[in-house]
Amino acid sequence: MQKKWWNDKVAYQIYPKSFCDTNGDGIGDLRGVISKLDYLKELGIDIVWLSPIYQSPFVDQGYDISDYYKIAEEFGTMEEFDELLAEAKKRDMYIVMDLVVNHCSDKHEWFQKALEDPDGEYADYFYFVKGKDGKAPSNARGYFGGSAWEPVPGTDKYYLHMFAKEQPDLNWENPTVRQKIYEMVNWWLDKGLAGFRIDAIINIKKDLAFPSFEPDGPDGLVSGVKMIESAQGIGEFLEELKQETFEKYDAFTVGEVFNMKEEELAEFVGDDGHFSTMFDFSAHELTFGEHGWYDAKPIEFNSWKDIIFTSQKKMENVGFLANIIENHDEPRGASRYLQEHAQNDKGKKMLATTSVLLRGIPFLFQGQEIGMTNCKREHISEYNDINTIDQYQVALEAGLSEEEALKCCYENSRDNARTPMQWSDGDNAGFTTGTPWLAVNANYKQINVAEQENREDSVLNYYRELIALRKKEEYKDTFTYGEFVPAYETEKDLFAYMRVDKESGQKILIAANFGKEPCTITLEDGVKQVLLSNLAKEEMVSGEAVKNHKITLESCESVVILL
Ligand code: GLC
Repeated sequence: MQKKWWNDKVAYQIYPKSFCDTNGDGIGDLRGVISKLDYLKELGIDIVWLSPIYQSPFVDQGYDISDYYKIAEEFGTMEEFDELLAEAKKRDMYIVMDLVVNHCSDKHEWFQKALEDPDGEYADYFYFVKGKDGKAPSNARGYFGGSAWEPVPGTDKYYLHMFAKEQPDLNWENPTVRQKIYEMVNWWLDKGLAGFRIDAIINIKKDLAFPSFEPDGPDGLVSGVKMIESAQGIGEFLEELKQETFEKYDAFTVGEVFNMKEEELAEFVGDDGHFSTMFDFSAHELTFGEHGWYDAKPIEFNSWKDIIFTSQKKMENVGFLANIIENHDEPRGASRYLQEHAQNDKGKKMLATTSVLLRGIPFLFQGQEIGMTNCKREHISEYNDINTIDQYQVALEAGLSEEEALKCCYENSRDNARTPMQWSDGDNAGFTTGTPWLAVNANYKQINVAEQENREDSVLNYYRELIALRKKEEYKDTFTYGEFVPAYETEKDLFAYMRVDKESGQKILIAANFGKEPCTITLEDGVKQVLLSNLAKEEMVSGEAVKNHKITLESCESVVILL
């Protein structure tokens, strides 16, 4: 595998709307991001990914862009963005933006012009397709519910939207559209951007026959994924995109890729892949319900461990995945992956250890480093997210009570991750002096940065140590390029693996006991040094036991040992 500049980096996702508000309007802003760069640097972050900050009506929180060349007023100005780039550079940090080009906003000039002249040039920027027998061209359902087709007023045509109806899909078959996208991407890269996180990209290739399929729900519709799966040839679009843009700048790109065809892995993220890396969503996919959040499956430890191990192994000679436990579309990792007995600081540190030391690029999501959790709401009206509101309805229609439907939202809502960052125990968690656009999680009094800054054994300080360990000169190569070797696989509730550097022979064991009972393992090699433990020093694996090559991990204990 070829080595690349980003291989050993640690990334952090900022959800700008909820990160830090400096002007009191209740919405986070670019000044807020700039003000926290030192905090991120101290945490050990190299790459900062900003969820969309472009001009947008915010129907889907900025994933509906109305002008790709403008910064949303809510977030600040282009001058402030340039300042952010310069400030990041001073600190040897890299800024990555979200690239949302499967669709734009219905308020984008292109779509407005298309509506004005549904047979004209701009209509071909989108999928304007004639209906069949007075109905939509197919029975595809959009990701946010309802038909993926919306009538074009005054015509017998419909336009396609895989997401909300305010997010019309761009027609990638049209070379002019592709050229305009490349120009825009290069315009941002010219400014000094390090790269992009690439949104919903698998959707850009459609099956132009727009087939209907057997319905999978009482609405007579079928998941739009079916149509995406039946489309062939996305690779050509992705290659062209890369060659016309990213490659020229040696940019870092991370794809949001669901439903990729298994055999295309190397094409996507190999040495000459379409992207530098892509997120490993395999754990998240385990929870998918057949019909929605109401039949989502809880995480079962063994399947979770197995699927992560499988992902790690399949990447071995291919490239790197980006490892996450949460993001702005997912519930909080501490609430999802930790069982009740582990939903505490010890458990959060343990989860951090197993995730951050995997092979691949660690991506933290804002608040993860202090162990933020899911947020309980009393009523559906307290949610903002378009997906949550749809899934609540889906649950009610399937016969669940309001209370049960609300519980599904508590467990799955995208708003869990979008509540404001908890900086302090002051008003609104120190996020804003105004009224936050989305209410803060009531637990900010206990969970916040200010409290953890000053407490040696806090989750925050543990994350700092953990990331510093990953980057330490002596171990860096092993953690970056070392092989991933599963360990003690038959031990119940144990999540253990080795990172092995074949060249130097260095071997590091990462072991974590997710169970309730203690777990004893025998080490085949002698222990050179315990590099990290999530317990206080006096509680750590004792010297005698280590000498005997036996260690006992208490419930929720994790260790990193140089063998
Ligand atoms: C991606 C984003 C999500 C958004 C969707 C549509 O999945 O992560 O937040 O709603 O794309 O752009």
